[in-house]
Amino acid sequence: MAAGIDDIAIYIPRLYIDAADFARARGLDPIKLQKGLGVSQMAIVDANQDPACLAANACLTIMQKNKLSPDDIGRLYVSTESAFDESKAMNSYVIGMLEQVYGQGAFEHCGGVETKFACVSGSYALYDNANWIRAGEAEGKHALVVVSDIAKYDMGSSGEMTQGAGSVVMLLNDEPRLLEFDPKVTATSIKDEYDFYRPFGKETPIVHGQYSNLLYMIQVRKALEAYKKKVISSGLIRLKPDETILDHMDYINMHLPYSNMGKKALAYLVRHEWRQLPRWKKILEAIGMDEPRPKDPRGTIESVLADDEFMEKDHEFTKMFTKTKEYQEVYESKLSSSLIASSMIGNLYTASLYLGFRSSLEFEYQKGIDLAGKRVGFGSYGSGSSAMVFSGVIQPEYEQIVKNMNLEVEIGERRRLTWKEYEELHENKLSPEESMLHAKKEFVLVDVQTKTETRGERRYVFNE
Ligand code: COA
Repeated sequence: MAAGIDDIAIYIPRLYIDAADFARARGLDPIKLQKGLGVSQMAIVDANQDPACLAANACLTIMQKNKLSPDDIGRLYVSTESAFDESKAMNSYVIGMLEQVYGQGAFEHCGGVETKFACVSGSYALYDNANWIRAGEAEGKHALVVVSDIAKYDMGSSGEMTQGAGSVVMLLNDEPRLLEFDPKVTATSIKDEYDFYRPFGKETPIVHGQYSNLLYMIQVRKALEAYKKKVISSGLIRLKPDETILDHMDYINMHLPYSNMGKKALAYLVRHEWRQLPRWKKILEAIGMDEPRPKDPRGTIESVLADDEFMEKDHEFTKMFTKTKEYQEVYESKLSSSLIASSMIGNLYTASLYLGFRSSLEFEYQKGIDLAGKRVGFGSYGSGSSAMVFSGVIQPEYEQIVKNMNLEVEIGERRRLTWKEYEELHENKLSPEESMLHAKKEFVLVDVQTKTETRGERRYVFNE
């Protein structure tokens, strides 16, 4: 049985900090954010928003748009790394909010859990729900997989430049109009690591940014190797001797903690794939230098990062590689459109990859390209760490969905925060009733209990 993404919806908070304002306040060159990282604006949650209400707002949008009733939904999964409870799943809050609109008990039949593995957990949730459908367990119902996060880093830390917030929800079923997943090729890698983690009770993560960047690329590459084996053994794709698996992906979506990380990761994968092929000779000639090798090629990530000479040469090589006509062609045609939303919105952790997919659909369609039959590859990464590589094919009915996509309209009118407002929100100085915006037709947080016996209970309302 087929399974895939039938529709996709987003909810993005309407407050944002502009990269230029951020750079000025932190004494940074704005070009570092805009060109170096690809960050133009970062969405920031209001005082009456949390990841659960972002998720509920996205769910309500997709249900209303598709005229779905709760009876049409068999599963609702929430994937997040911004959880605020160690036990109660974020799903229950989301269901509670949706039932304010659809009636109490309306989702009683519906199952689901909150999944956690940093930014990759949404991909595991998609895979598990696709298999629920493939197994014939869905009985005609759909699954909702919501990825929702607030990417918030310590004040003054280097991660603070890569914040953002938002939620993406995907409707899955056995007759998907948007993308059918390729069966039996999903591949993973996993390793116990401390590149980025958030200990109990800490609101912001501990991050080793450069280590994490390199680990991300290594782990995704390992998952890509496993994907390649599965694709070849299952007969899904036949590779000619001078081809790489990436040649068979019309689009490639990468996890995007910031927009330029997609560029970096794609260049890494393409470089490793092309190195085995006859075309590499021509590339090396165009670059005019040999590919640098670390002093200890079998060393650890730490030893590679500490090898200054190698790092500098490798950086230079990568820059020249990304300027070659051959790489530019791959970048422009397969990745660039997926980065547009990320630079407008910022880091969405679990939702980053799927916001990228959504962005790619809208902006590729706007180029007048017929997307039907195009294969989309996904490179998902979660710190801690695990990667997942999978793919799917855009369906003939895609246009019904994609023709109406309009990121700016869907985000709505945004408000640029002053630095003082940003600081107040970041340091949680405001209570929900002091929110900066008065949202209409949205779920908002109104209260978090502090009394011992009810501590942590949250109350939400739907603002008419
Ligand atoms: N003008 C133009 N570009 C500039 C610049 C300037 N003035 N200053 C720096 N840059 C470029 C750098 O060359 C670099 O580009 P490159 O990657 O192509 O080499 C980029 O801007 C970033 O600069 P860098 O010095 O590497 O930044 P940093 O070390 O201060 O921090 C991160 C960058 C991404 C490591 C940091 O923001 C971070 O840790 N973010 C969190 C990411 C995360 O959470 N990852 C884990 C989950 S995947």
